[in-house]
Amino acid sequence: MIVTIDGPAGAGKSSAARMLAQRLGFDFLDTGAMYRAVTLAALRANCDLADQNALAGLLETIHLDMPPGRVMLNGENIADAIRTPAVTAASGPIASSPVVRTRLVDWQRKIADGRDFVCEGRDQGTIVFPHALCKFFLVADPLERARRRHRELTQRGDAITLEEIVKSQEERDARDAARDIAPMVPAPDAIQLDSTQLTLDEVVARMEQEVRARQPNRAPPLPPVAPISPGDPLARMDTAWFKAWHECLYLPYHLLFTLAFSIRKQGMRNMPWTGPALLISNHQSYLDPLIVGLVARRPLVYLARRTLFRNPYFGWMIRSMNAVPIDQEGIGLDGIRTILVQLQRGRPVLVFPEGRRTDDGAMLPLKPGVHLLIKRTQAPIVPVGIAGAYGAWPIWRKYPWPAPLFLPAGPGTISVSLGKPLDASRYAAMPREEALQELFDKIHTEQQRAENIRRK
Ligand code: DC
Repeated sequence: MIVTIDGPAGAGKSSAARMLAQRLGFDFLDTGAMYRAVTLAALRANCDLADQNALAGLLETIHLDMPPGRVMLNGENIADAIRTPAVTAASGPIASSPVVRTRLVDWQRKIADGRDFVCEGRDQGTIVFPHALCKFFLVADPLERARRRHRELTQRGDAITLEEIVKSQEERDARDAARDIAPMVPAPDAIQLDSTQLTLDEVVARMEQEVRARQPNRAPPLPPVAPISPGDPLARMDTAWFKAWHECLYLPYHLLFTLAFSIRKQGMRNMPWTGPALLISNHQSYLDPLIVGLVARRPLVYLARRTLFRNPYFGWMIRSMNAVPIDQEGIGLDGIRTILVQLQRGRPVLVFPEGRRTDDGAMLPLKPGVHLLIKRTQAPIVPVGIAGAYGAWPIWRKYPWPAPLFLPAGPGTISVSLGKPLDASRYAAMPREEALQELFDKIHTEQQRAENIRRK
């Protein structure tokens, strides 16, 4: 989902966008910083700012990255260097350059693609994201804007007078509004806000209210008693006979995994005994759902690709498990909706956020979908680590490779570890990359714990 904030310099866009993104659990994109970065690169390269061919050549040589709080130009953090009056003055021709705009608009769309972003600039609601969920056009009285900018620059030690700022601001406003390409105008469906008389907190509160009113798929808080609709395909999971059947199956499965793979488990007490839980596990083999089922003890809901339900060898097994079909690998939007419904019904759900089985035993980066999911649930997250399942049944082997009875650690022996439940709201509030990295680390730690007990 995209939220755009456009408007003139000094209206408070950047601060508002940053704070709004934090409150919504979105990422934040300062597109002005991108134009400034290209300006700095052009100034350093002594490029003629009006020469489109030269600018096109320059763009080929720069690599721009925007991690939180930094602006990286070819590996160098230029967050401060782009805020000088010289860069501000030279950013005009750069922002009016068709080649630069085409390239930056393309980058901005790629950065935000499929993610939740608050994007701030001049043309975000009109050109870059015309279908944004919510658009704002933030203005303020010109003198007040100049005062804010003056405060900001003098605090940094720049010697500049208020009059100079008013003058350059007037020129910039007129230039940004009058340019042929992507002029600074409010989108027809933008909400106009005037920040002159408002505090930053008041501006952001108003924006947050507008965005939340438009968010269509926000999961409502989990109901205390999970309702079971007649159309619920897994309604049987909540019946007494199913729970009894699960207990009966548990023993033979346990025996099978002990004989074939010397399975070892730890952290079973970390599994919540009732209510929803989101189990996130590394994915080494087709055995993984059964392995996690053994350590969780409770009947779990699994996700499986629709094609697996029709698999001639183990389609029957998928169908007899509490599996719900999803259309694609990884957790797409359909998968997210499916999981949320199951969590709301108070059931534990197992997902493999890497999206597919490992090719070489090492963990893959987590797919961004898991963050989207966590932002919409309040269920505890239980990290799960599996070790040895890759050795027992790697992706490239057609059949598993069981170890002989009780063989000490070696090929074919498997272990699994459950970590302490994590608070979803903590990860929901984090920028996505950070949350994914931390969750990756949690799963990885469990995997190492599992590896340790496998080798004992
Ligand atoms: O918001 P700012 O002052 O950091 O913007 C720097 C320059 O980039 C300024 O000349 C306006 C221009 N700009 C633009 O043309 N389009 C955007 N989306 C963002 C900034």
